[in-house]
Amino acid sequence: MYQERGFLASMLIFLIVRFCSSTDTITLTQPLKDGDILVSNGKTFALGFFSPTNSSNRYMGIWYNKVSEQTVVWVANRDRPITGSTGILSVDETGNLVLHENDQAFVFWSTNVSRVANDVFSAQLLDSGNLVLFQGGIYSWQSFDYPSNTLLPGMKFGLDKKTGLNRVITSWKSGVNPGVGDYSYKMEFVGSPQLFLYKGVTRVWRTGSWTGHGWSGVPAMTQNYIFNVSYINNNDEVVVVYLIRNSSIFSRLVVNESGTVERLTWHEAEQKWVGFWSAPKDQCDGYNHCGPSGFCNPFKSDSFECDCLPGYEPRSPQDWYLRDGSKGCKIKVGTQMCGSGDGFVELDRVKVPDTSTARVNMSLGLEACEETCLMNCTCMGYASADVSKGGCIMWYGDMIDTRTFSDGGQSFYIRVDAAELGTPLILFSSKPSKMDHVFESGC
Ligand SMILES: *[C@@H]1O[C@H](CO)[C@@H](O)[C@H](O)[C@H]1NC(C)=O
Ligand SMILES: *[C@@H]1O[C@H](CO)[C@@H](O)[C@H](O)[C@H]1NC(C)=O
Ligand SMILES: *[C@@H]1O[C@H](CO)[C@@H](O)[C@H](O)[C@H]1NC(C)=O
Ligand SMILES: *[C@@H]1O[C@H](CO)[C@@H](O)[C@H](O)[C@H]1NC(C)=O
Ligand SMILES: *[C@@H]1O[C@H](CO)[C@@H](O)[C@H](O)[C@H]1NC(C)=O
Ligand SMILES: *[C@@H]1O[C@H](CO)[C@@H](O)[C@H](O)[C@H]1NC(C)=O
Ligand SMILES: *[C@@H]1O[C@H](CO)[C@@H](O)[C@H](O)[C@H]1NC(C)=O
Repeated sequence: MYQERGFLASMLIFLIVRFCSSTDTITLTQPLKDGDILVSNGKTFALGFFSPTNSSNRYMGIWYNKVSEQTVVWVANRDRPITGSTGILSVDETGNLVLHENDQAFVFWSTNVSRVANDVFSAQLLDSGNLVLFQGGIYSWQSFDYPSNTLLPGMKFGLDKKTGLNRVITSWKSGVNPGVGDYSYKMEFVGSPQLFLYKGVTRVWRTGSWTGHGWSGVPAMTQNYIFNVSYINNNDEVVVVYLIRNSSIFSRLVVNESGTVERLTWHEAEQKWVGFWSAPKDQCDGYNHCGPSGFCNPFKSDSFECDCLPGYEPRSPQDWYLRDGSKGCKIKVGTQMCGSGDGFVELDRVKVPDTSTARVNMSLGLEACEETCLMNCTCMGYASADVSKGGCIMWYGDMIDTRTFSDGGQSFYIRVDAAELGTPLILFSSKPSKMDHVFESGC
């Protein structure tokens, strides 16, 4: 009787385990072969082997299960395709997910995590599109930490300060090759955290710093954005997380192989992905387009988008005349910058300069920020670090990659001398932004 009950109990456990593991889970005894597909619990995502269009190579990846057009959001063996339909994804006895071929020792991809004292290993595809590896009940690895070219809602984008992991998304090599391509998009932390799009090691575009509501350089992020965007900067991490307000909308952010960061949403009626937002958009988005201390203004009527920041003049007037702003600007000759009646002028609706040359002090309000900047002659300008919570960013070096928008952006206060403070500003011909002389220095 006792034995029988034990048998029944283990049968039941076996049945439950069988049932639970049949669709979204890989275990030691249940690997995934090419041809098998794992489907997440809510049927939103699928995991399996696929071939890109016009290719016979096999890759292990995750795609939208409910979208008619093959849309891959994550690839494991990006640069190590399998040539035949012989791939197997399994959980091995070290607690790692391993991609290999039948009876072959060659490893195409593996999670490479160290084993904890446990031998109950499994991997599960969650309905968010996240593939999670468990050692016992503890998660030891997740695909959301190692994105390919796509950022999905709920993914943390940025740095885990405890482990040092900085998540980077990289373009495919081409539409038919998911290998790691030229473009990458990642967060950098010098000054105030900003996102950068790179081509190789060259900066292409910058979001600007976080203003409290959105990125300084992404005016599309308004209050009624379809997302609830959280920016978290604490002792554990500095990340941005996009949650979609209506979970039945499919939306993804991709760094595509032509060097654009684009957000697309799925239109069920038309059965296609439609562009929602993308960057870079215009010349002024190009990183450092007008050089150090330059100011990019796409609304100017003379059709040369570069200007100098107030108090600065072109470093190379010849190049400037030929509409090449790349050498940027220098402080005007004869400027008496320190302790001689200098102050600040406000530039409105701008993407503030690259914060790589800036320092942040979150305990200073805007007025204290102005005072602190004014007292130190090497401080070139300041802005609010968070328009709702306060805090201050002060620039102590080159002010690079400043631009204006017709709407959005934030205020930037630039240090000018007394002569400049008394000069009416005629920076804009077709005045998209307002500029005010704000502070007068007492020193
Ligand atoms: C696939 O190959 C066909 C025929 O060569 C070509 O017309 C098509 O553009 C290719 N598709 C992609 C995505 O490269
Ligand atoms: C696995 O991780 C170890 C330790 O972090 C590292 O030295 C090794 O290069 C990694 N191997 C692979 C294949 O990534
Ligand atoms: C945004 O998401 C966070 C975390 O899920 C939640 O606490 C907050 O209430 C959400 N805000 C809005 C406006 O939906
Ligand atoms: C969410 O999106 C779906 C599909 O677009 C739509 O049918 C539904 O009405 C939306 N729900 C809300 C609360 O907006
Ligand atoms: C990249 O995104 C831009 C903007 O959405 C689009 O015009 C372009 O066709 C995309 N390129 C590829 C290769 O998908
Ligand atoms: C921030 O400013 C306050 C007030 O001036 C000062 O006491 C503090 O040391 C500053 N913090 C940093 C990190 O500079
Ligand atoms: C001015 O600021 C710079 C950079 O923060 C600092 O190194 C220098 O000591 C400051 N000078 C004074 C007089 O506070």
